[in-house]
Amino acid sequence: MAYPHRFIFSIIIIIFFLICFLSFIAATSNSSKHHHKWVGPSGHLLITVDANGLGNFRTVQAAVNSIPINNTKNVLIHINAGYYIEKVVVPASKPYITFEGEGREASVIEWHDRACDKGPDGQQLRTYHTASVTVLASYFTARNISFKNTAPAPMPGMEGWQAVAFRISGDKAYFSGCGFYGAQDTLCDDSGRHYFKECYIEGSIDFIFGNGRSIYKECEIHSIATKFGSIAAQDRNSMDEKTGFAFIQCRVTGTGPLYVGRAMGQYSRIVYSYTYFDDIVAHGGWDDWDHVSNKNKTVFFGVYKCSGPGAAAVRGVSWARELDYPTAHPFLAKSFVNGRHWIAPSDA
Ligand SMILES: *[C@@H]1O[C@H](CO)[C@@H](O)[C@H](O)[C@H]1NC(C)=O
Ligand SMILES: *[C@@H]1O[C@H](CO)[C@@H](O)[C@H](O)[C@H]1NC(C)=O
Ligand SMILES: *[C@@H]1O[C@H](CO)[C@@H](O)[C@H](O)[C@H]1NC(C)=O
Repeated sequence: MAYPHRFIFSIIIIIFFLICFLSFIAATSNSSKHHHKWVGPSGHLLITVDANGLGNFRTVQAAVNSIPINNTKNVLIHINAGYYIEKVVVPASKPYITFEGEGREASVIEWHDRACDKGPDGQQLRTYHTASVTVLASYFTARNISFKNTAPAPMPGMEGWQAVAFRISGDKAYFSGCGFYGAQDTLCDDSGRHYFKECYIEGSIDFIFGNGRSIYKECEIHSIATKFGSIAAQDRNSMDEKTGFAFIQCRVTGTGPLYVGRAMGQYSRIVYSYTYFDDIVAHGGWDDWDHVSNKNKTVFFGVYKCSGPGAAAVRGVSWARELDYPTAHPFLAKSFVNGRHWIAPSDA
């Protein structure tokens, strides 16, 4: 009776190899499917910066410099109350960094470069290089801290007085409880997906500008314009780009008159939803930038359920539309910046 045993044994062996083979196939196809799987940071590092020497470093840049290139840790740089008079750059090779201050009145990083000032090479700096703080890295976060450019505000007609306080060129950046102070070109929302929550942004001319894809939620947008100002200049340049500025439940305050948006790019996109406007909006509300390139036919400027004494003026041109819910919807949720994948539910 040895024969049936051998038969059953070989069947079992065959089934065993079949299972091995199938799981091998499954494993390889699985790994190729997840080949580009995102590997997040692992581990934590806390660094303290204190202007009076009570921390690990006295300057923010020294703290950033201490982080290794190709950083893979969550690095929390706690910035004690104080003024940090320095220019700071977070290079692209250092992701996952958080600047945490002790309140936007308490912890301040500031510098004072203007576009017409000369750089180390003797050439004019130009706007992008004036930023007091420049972030080129992804996964940057800032909480409860202010960024200032303290160069004096330009008089009308003055050239080269652009003075950026903060430039964000990295992807997936999150800001909460932050202050941005300047006059012309305060916040360079250059490129990438960004979320600004409960921030205070102050300036005079185009003081939120660039080609970012950003949400501004519950922010105060404060104008210090003395003659004529403008808030947002968005630089989307083709229909294929997903960029644009979405303001949700913000408050527009300060001095005017000002435009709420300008068509920096041919396909500029700016939407204000549930936003309060003080009585400072200029007649027309929006500006097509150069009056020659028919940008009024290609931009997407809209408002949805806004309020306040300036709200009527924001609907002042035919090419800035009062949106209906389906059209406004993409600009109302954090999916506009793919936030579900990188912003904690409690943060947005
Ligand atoms: C950082 O990563 C890049 C890309 O993987 C690599 O080319 C470079 O050598 C790394 N640099 C350091 C200092 O580890
Ligand atoms: C930021 O400031 C707010 C209000 O002052 C406070 O409630 C919050 O805990 C602070 N957050 C951090 C991370 O310090
Ligand atoms: C749009 O802009 C062009 C110039 O670029 C101008 O001639 C035209 O009158 C504008 N249309 C409206 C509706 O404002």
